[in-house]
Amino acid sequence: MPPGTRLTIFPMSNDNKDFVFYPIGYIRSSYREQTGTPIQANLGEPETAEVRVLEQYRDGLSDLEGFSHVWLITWLDRGKPFELLTIPYRDTIKRGLFATRAPSRPNPIGISCTRLIRVEKTTGVLHLAGIDLLDFTPVLDIKPYIPAVDAFPEASSGWFMSGTNRTRADERFQPDE
Ligand SMILES: C[S@@+](CC[C@H](N)C(=O)[O-])C[C@H]1O[C@@H](n2cnc3c(N)ncnc32)[C@H](O)[C@@H]1O
Repeated sequence: MPPGTRLTIFPMSNDNKDFVFYPIGYIRSSYREQTGTPIQANLGEPETAEVRVLEQYRDGLSDLEGFSHVWLITWLDRGKPFELLTIPYRDTIKRGLFATRAPSRPNPIGISCTRLIRVEKTTGVLHLAGIDLLDFTPVLDIKPYIPAVDAFPEASSGWFMSGTNRTRADERFQPDE
């Protein structure tokens, strides 16, 4: 993703107002294709990765070092077209897309909660442990993970609890060459 890239999202209404996302940075990771990439940031061995934040947004990194984890809101830019009934990575039967975390979606927004090792504010580099994102995935936003508001230990997990224990992606959402 070259700096300054703009993602224009077309509106459902006809008021001629597009949603426009300006990525604030991008991911550097060792993953170049979906197959073999962790399915979630906390699954498998936590590989180190980076967010590179563009210069004009770096002042916004102040005070982030006090947080052990961050949410990355990303644009999963290299998926197949979505299907409303889809077999998620951790299952063998079709599930409603919105009951899955499949990367192919009408608006392919990803949410990854990952451990923050170090913040280099001047260079705009966030060092992370645990990532489920391909190299150069555009980052739309970064937010601190706050257990007091984000964690619900009593929450139920639907089909996920009876699914498989796969930790790495296969080719099912990978675009054809
Ligand atoms: C199951 S999704 C989950 C992403 C995020 N944690 C979420 O829940 O929204 C993670 C998978 O998306 C795929 N992926 C990662 N980066 C991508 C990108 N830029 N474009 C398309 N697919 C991507 C990889 O196969 C990875 O295993």
